[in-house]
Amino acid sequence: MDDAILNELRKFVAPEFIFGLDARQLAGRYARKLGGQKVLLMSDPGVAQAGWTEEIGRQLEAEGLQVIPFLGVSPNPRDTEVMAGAELFRYAGCDLIVAVGGGSVMDCAKGVGIVAANGGSILEFEGVDQVPAPMVPLICIPTTGGTSADVSQFAIITDTQERVKIAIISKAVVPDVALIDPRTLLTMDPYLTACTGMDAMVHAIEAFVSNASSPITDVHALEAIRLVSTHLRASAEAPQDLELRTKIMLASLQAGLAFSNASLGCVHAMAHSLGGFKDLAHGECNALLLPHVMDYNFSVAPERFRRIGEAMGCELKGLNDRECRARLLTQVMDLRRDCGIDQGLEARGVHSSDLFRLASKAIHDPCNATNPRPPSQADLKAIFEEAM
Ligand SMILES: [Fe+2]
Repeated sequence: MDDAILNELRKFVAPEFIFGLDARQLAGRYARKLGGQKVLLMSDPGVAQAGWTEEIGRQLEAEGLQVIPFLGVSPNPRDTEVMAGAELFRYAGCDLIVAVGGGSVMDCAKGVGIVAANGGSILEFEGVDQVPAPMVPLICIPTTGGTSADVSQFAIITDTQERVKIAIISKAVVPDVALIDPRTLLTMDPYLTACTGMDAMVHAIEAFVSNASSPITDVHALEAIRLVSTHLRASAEAPQDLELRTKIMLASLQAGLAFSNASLGCVHAMAHSLGGFKDLAHGECNALLLPHVMDYNFSVAPERFRRIGEAMGCELKGLNDRECRARLLTQVMDLRRDCGIDQGLEARGVHSSDLFRLASKAIHDPCNATNPRPPSQADLKAIFEEAM
């Protein structure tokens, strides 16, 4: 087939997912259906303390499965944790992974699944389509509303030697089943709600302006932008409102379906470099960088950004491109500030002397490949400067 035709074709990959209240309670049934007998139950201390991990563990045992817990996943999961998890998986003779947690837990679980199936070090699988054998069966139960690792073809792991996050992008890391239960969001605090919600917003915006977008990813991206814009502030203010939590979980799912298939852009490339270097929360990095990357990209896709503005509820009729850009950036910065994500990189311990390093790592991230404006290292450094 002609390369020009091939470049225009788009595939859409998604796992089997169940969305709805109490979907998490299907974990045992699905684990058995996937042929599991001994489950590596992965989670982190915060989620375990909230009670979700133990509840799922009990449920798996009630279905006759043996459970081996691995609760040592840190925020920004490390290569060393992946290797420790894979070692435990092999040593204990597990045959299935159940991940209960946010993006960190699910990404770490994907890493364990890759190494358990392929051997080697997790860092060998960096890049696009570098995972030869499918990972071991994985069920994901997300407990945050934004990362969408439960439906995505992405796994992000921190290379502890280089202090940078690597991106593994492959159909092989799509979970077998995602049980997406808005009730798990009830235990998120307001700042985590804001950071993960802004992560979903960035997924949707980057997917919509990506040069690999398609009509199918566009539908999900625009709806996610609308949902986050409409409901994130209220959800952060009223953590116990299950209806609002459901809207945000739906936004996360739709943004995940969009970005998993259309890929991302410079916000994520830069956030991976920044988060790996400073150990900052992923969604927080994204929120801090988003308006500056939008400003950088606007001129190459003004019509796309206009549609993003409309989905955010901006009144843009009669505005020229320059006015539209200004209105849109104000809208994003207002949302970020209203949710409690204030100030810039400097307030988070980034020095101007760090920016060369941050840009030199970010330029190698595979997410740049689908940014609508191909960046140079100098461009990325300038954007980091803007975000200080
Ligand atoms: Fe993200």
